[in-house]
Amino acid sequence: MGYKGFLFSAAFCLWLMGTSNGDVSYSIPEEIKRGYIIGNLFKDLDLNFNRISIRKARLDMDGSEQRYCDINLDTGDLIVAETIDREELCGPRVSCTLKYELVLENPLELHRVNVQIQDINDNPPRFPNARIDLEINESADKGARYPLDEPHDSDIGLNAVQSYSLERNDYFILDIQTSPDGGKYGELVLEKELDREQQQEVTLLLTAFDGGTPQRSGTVVIHVTVLDANDNKPVFSQNVYKVSLPENSPKGTVVVAVSASDLDEGANGAVTYEFSRISDKATKLLSIDKTTGEIKVQGLIDYEEYKEYEVRVQAKDGSGLAGNAKVMIYITDVNDNAPVISIKSFNDPITENVLPGTEVGIINVQDKDSEGNRQVRCSIQQNVPFKLNPSIKNYYSLVTTSELDREIISDYNITITATDEGSPPLSSSKTIHLSVSDVNDNPPVFEEQSYSAYVTENNKPGSSMCSVTARDPDWRQNGTVVYSLLPSEVNGVPVSSFLSINGDTGVIHAVRAFDYEQFRSFKVHLVARDNGSPPLSSNVTVSVFITDENDNSPQILYPAPAGNSLMTEMVPKAALAGSLVSKVIAVDADSGQNAWLSYQIVKSTDPGLFTIGLHSGEIRAQRDITESDSMKQNLVISEGIAKSGEADHGITFNNNRDSHRVVVNWTCVMVTNDSKEAHCNTIKLWPIRLVLNE
Ligand SMILES: *[C@@H]1O[C@H](CO)[C@@H](O)[C@H](O)[C@H]1NC(C)=O
Ligand SMILES: *[C@@H]1O[C@H](CO)[C@@H](O)[C@H](O)[C@H]1NC(C)=O
Ligand SMILES: *[C@@H]1O[C@H](CO)[C@@H](O)[C@H](O)[C@H]1NC(C)=O
Repeated sequence: MGYKGFLFSAAFCLWLMGTSNGDVSYSIPEEIKRGYIIGNLFKDLDLNFNRISIRKARLDMDGSEQRYCDINLDTGDLIVAETIDREELCGPRVSCTLKYELVLENPLELHRVNVQIQDINDNPPRFPNARIDLEINESADKGARYPLDEPHDSDIGLNAVQSYSLERNDYFILDIQTSPDGGKYGELVLEKELDREQQQEVTLLLTAFDGGTPQRSGTVVIHVTVLDANDNKPVFSQNVYKVSLPENSPKGTVVVAVSASDLDEGANGAVTYEFSRISDKATKLLSIDKTTGEIKVQGLIDYEEYKEYEVRVQAKDGSGLAGNAKVMIYITDVNDNAPVISIKSFNDPITENVLPGTEVGIINVQDKDSEGNRQVRCSIQQNVPFKLNPSIKNYYSLVTTSELDREIISDYNITITATDEGSPPLSSSKTIHLSVSDVNDNPPVFEEQSYSAYVTENNKPGSSMCSVTARDPDWRQNGTVVYSLLPSEVNGVPVSSFLSINGDTGVIHAVRAFDYEQFRSFKVHLVARDNGSPPLSSNVTVSVFITDENDNSPQILYPAPAGNSLMTEMVPKAALAGSLVSKVIAVDADSGQNAWLSYQIVKSTDPGLFTIGLHSGEIRAQRDITESDSMKQNLVISEGIAKSGEADHGITFNNNRDSHRVVVNWTCVMVTNDSKEAHCNTIKLWPIRLVLNE
């Protein structure tokens, strides 16, 4: 309180109300300071001041300990004894009067003294709470009213609350109402609809004013919490989500997380997601998480099958308000397809005589991927006489790069490799088997440049002499060799009468027995021809050499045989020992050793008389020939050396009759020039008669 009443005392009109039967009334403002003189009772009651002291004047108050006012017995002044708080004294009562009785004795005299306490504006309006909390649903209609607590002002009348002022704001105005008890209270009136999503709370300052002078005020903070109403549907962060997704992304890959926000609160703002329009195909591939909005891969994404998917997603809040968005998923290519090689045409087999650059086949390469992943390079292995020529688009022609030779390489495995330009690149390969077909491009070739055949004369007709071989590397009939003789003549005789050749084997047979003594050698020409068309051939010379056989007996030239009689030679009778008496001369048609003659006396009439020179054939006397010697000496001379013990072979001499030539086949051993033993198959014995001449 501490109201300094005296400062304002001039403003107050203190008045003395007229009293009947000696009562007096005063009116003072509350809170006036102690000692303040309210009035002079003696004077106002018209009492004889001089007698007061003997009449024991006193101021009584019923039943109250607080006196508030007192009387100055010396002066009769009614003074304020203690500060009076009207509000404490009378509360809200309009009239507040302190009632005293002035008691005088001698004689007893009572005077009523009323001191009316006037209110001064010493209390501000006071709200019961420092803050008024209101919860208003955002869906509240315009005009909705919200009564506010009434502030209390202990003062009364005009000093009590008279007016309000509400802080300027967008939503509310204040309407002042009068309560049944006359109090003035405010009501908040919604002037503009609330939007929780825009403003979740509104804080206002309400000021209550009283009507006193000076005016006092009290404030309260009105705190309005805007309650949510489901007035917002979920809104996606984008109308259209465009994402790209590599094909083959593994299951569980997050494609995109769609997100919708709902400005509402709680269930009104809790959003769940689902597909609202999706193709059957995409249903199998994509899933959406109800709560997070993550769209995930759940199947095999194949760029080659579909390049994009359009799905619609819906977000719903707890009360079923929904928002939509579109999700465009563009699948990007991954290099997951290897090139596919297909052989569009293939000339198999190819003949070996084709020119370089001949097209063997046409190859097509496809790759299902796109862009770089479908760019394909195609190659074949090294070391084959082929190459790939790029042609239109994905076509290649396989051509030869050089001549082919079936006889060297008869087939090829050509491996075509196609590699794309993806990262990492994929490749595939295909091997084609190409056969080279034959052309008759090789003549038969004899193994030797020339052949020699050695045949012993007297051969058996039909015996084989030698064989020739010619090779032809061509295929089948192109490489089948047939042998034949080239017609020619030997000594005027067609060669075919001497020789024949087996056309298949090349074995040469003698047609007849050859006679060395007739001719010793001759040449024939053979042809080897293949069966190709046209045929190829080559020829070779075979030299036939006939070897000698000892098929001719020596012929005695001297002494000349005379008819069927013995060869007779006259020998001088007086021949001395060692003198040459005759000479046997023989020839042999054979050659070499077969014609090498030696002489020997096999049997003689007088074995001691003559010797014969082994090679010279000279017959000489061994001793002097005497009279006693027989006139006729028979000698059997052999050509060749008779083996010892085989001398006498039943050749008998008949001295009286002419002996005749006897030919005996026997075994003899010839000593050849090189000291080797050889067999001679025939040996001729000639009986010779030497007639001693007188
Ligand atoms: C080609 O391939 C086949 C099968 O693998 C094989 O038998 C043949 O020997 C091959 N030919 C060549 C000339 O490599
Ligand atoms: C032999 O060669 C000819 C061409 O010289 C060819 O036409 C023929 O087909 C070939 N024969 C065989 C069996 O290859
Ligand atoms: C034998 O071959 C030679 C060269 O090889 C050839 O000059 C000649 O004409 C051929 N003779 C015959 C009769 O075919």
